[in-house]
Amino acid sequence: MEIIIRETAASATGIAARIIAKLLRDKPAAVLGLATGSTPLPLYRTLIEMNLDWSQVTTFNLDEYIGLPREHPQTYHSFMWENLFQHINISKDRVHIPDGNAADIPASCADYEARIREVGGIDLQVLGIGTDGHLGFNEPTSSLASRTRIKTLTRQTRVDNARFFGSESEVPHHVITMGIGTIMEARTNLLLAFGENKARAIAEAVEGPITSINPASVLQMHPAVKVCLDEPAASELKRADYYRWVYDNKPAWQTF
Ligand code: GLP
Repeated sequence: MEIIIRETAASATGIAARIIAKLLRDKPAAVLGLATGSTPLPLYRTLIEMNLDWSQVTTFNLDEYIGLPREHPQTYHSFMWENLFQHINISKDRVHIPDGNAADIPASCADYEARIREVGGIDLQVLGIGTDGHLGFNEPTSSLASRTRIKTLTRQTRVDNARFFGSESEVPHHVITMGIGTIMEARTNLLLAFGENKARAIAEAVEGPITSINPASVLQMHPAVKVCLDEPAASELKRADYYRWVYDNKPAWQTF
């Protein structure tokens, strides 16, 4: 894991944006995995401002609520179109978001996995992290080998996400999420976490044991993970000084 700690979320976001911009320049037909939540919002704003060419890019989103009408403002479909897709020159048929209203959800999940395979896999997956260490909607105790499937949200996640809805009771209980096994097959994973309320989940994921209780800890088994943090999110890391030293002393050929 490469742990990048910056003073502010804006600075950490800038690094993440440069990593993605470089990928799109090096590989115009890249396959990106995308995330929702408040964490990647500034990243998407920065990418929009960079005026990159998305015409050949394919995207797969991590997750979606089940049962909300597609045009509901809190679906991840609405989130992605409002905050990224409508502002860039991406082709609509290359955008993939799990369908929370599919008649046969298990079949649509299997189809989602097949589409990822058909396009040659995900080059870079953007990830946020839940306060309980979840990736996508893979809640604690998710199988570390899981594939795209239905999950039931924990009370904590529904409380955390209630801020986007009118109240906790409006947050759906069921969701579709790419599995941990799916995420682990992305060639690069780029995890972003900002704010003190993510500090414990990040410390456990980066420096704790690999355990499904903190699903993000499985990223320790992935060969290419970059973790972009602000200082508050890094505040419980025991080896933060080492990570800072590594970043500050990168050889020129390794910088972003
Ligand atoms: C949701 C999403 C996750 C996201 C998490 C954290 O549960 N399914 O993909 O990482 O929220 O959200 P935020 O970035 O708003 O803290």
